[in-house]
Amino acid sequence: MKDFIAGLPKCELHLHIEGTLEPELKFELAARNGLELPYATVEEMRAAYTFDSLSSFLTIYYEGMRVLRTEPDFYDLAMAYLRRAAEQNVRYAEIFFDPQAHTSRGVPFDVVIRGLRRALLDAHAQLGVRAQLIMCFLRDFQAEYAMATLLESLPYKEWIVGVGLDSDEKGNPPAKFAAVYERARQEGYLLTMHCDVDQDDAIEHIRQAVEEIGVDRIDHGVNILEDQRLVEVVLARGTGLTCCPVSNGYVTDSMKAEGIRKLMDLGVRVTVNSDDPAYFAAYVQENIEALHDALQLSREELARLQRNAFEITWLPRHVKDAYL
Ligand code: ADE
Ligand code: ZN
Repeated sequence: MKDFIAGLPKCELHLHIEGTLEPELKFELAARNGLELPYATVEEMRAAYTFDSLSSFLTIYYEGMRVLRTEPDFYDLAMAYLRRAAEQNVRYAEIFFDPQAHTSRGVPFDVVIRGLRRALLDAHAQLGVRAQLIMCFLRDFQAEYAMATLLESLPYKEWIVGVGLDSDEKGNPPAKFAAVYERARQEGYLLTMHCDVDQDDAIEHIRQAVEEIGVDRIDHGVNILEDQRLVEVVLARGTGLTCCPVSNGYVTDSMKAEGIRKLMDLGVRVTVNSDDPAYFAAYVQENIEALHDALQLSREELARLQRNAFEITWLPRHVKDAYL
């Protein structure tokens, strides 16, 4: 089945570009930018990747991205991911980036987006992988900062397909960003947001995302199973869920494989993604393998997960159809 999974044309929709920063590249960028790292070796750095919650992961994730400073740094980061994606037969990716994680430490917005954009163009031309960018707001910062970031993005609107919401969910519900999301919609952005697994008030957050914000997609969202009514709403709307089994295993007590299976069986458009592969040691192929090991999925089910993914992409219908 490993070969069957390897051969499947894949689509990745939940991938934080900053979460693809491998230790080797971190050392290279630190040297390029004259920065010291608190680890002597790649092995030592990897050994420090021990998370048992979303917040313990986020601390290391933000600390790690300090080495990203210049346009070529962002280019190299995205190119490295897209090369690995191409090797795993990923044909299309929608890639999150966290501008505030960079602007808040003095790196200009345009440095970030120009580097990422150039990599997307080169990867399409050189590797045949197509990708689009989704700009995420950091939910543990104030809504006003998210709004300022949204306005700052407008000159680059053609390079960004939609907006997302990530970072620490505790005490930062979707409703905090209602005005930001309303403006983003008016500007033509598509809308998604994290409803991370097993967070406090998980169901209320999903309800707000679906009913108050009216998201086009939900990132994670497995807890929706706790509310049959909300399941029916996403079924009726065809709303997709971007699940990340290996990531779930790091930040909660399990991969939530049974929940993913149940969602599949109910007909919800669930997909399998890697989230932060450099930190969770699993790209999309390994995520699909891990889910298969847990659930013994059939070929038809494995193919369906990819069909779901292509179906819920934010590509124009005719481009989407060419993948299906
Ligand atoms: N930022 C990067 N990965 C994340 C995740 N899984 N949840 C919330 N914020 C994130
Ligand atoms: Zn995520």
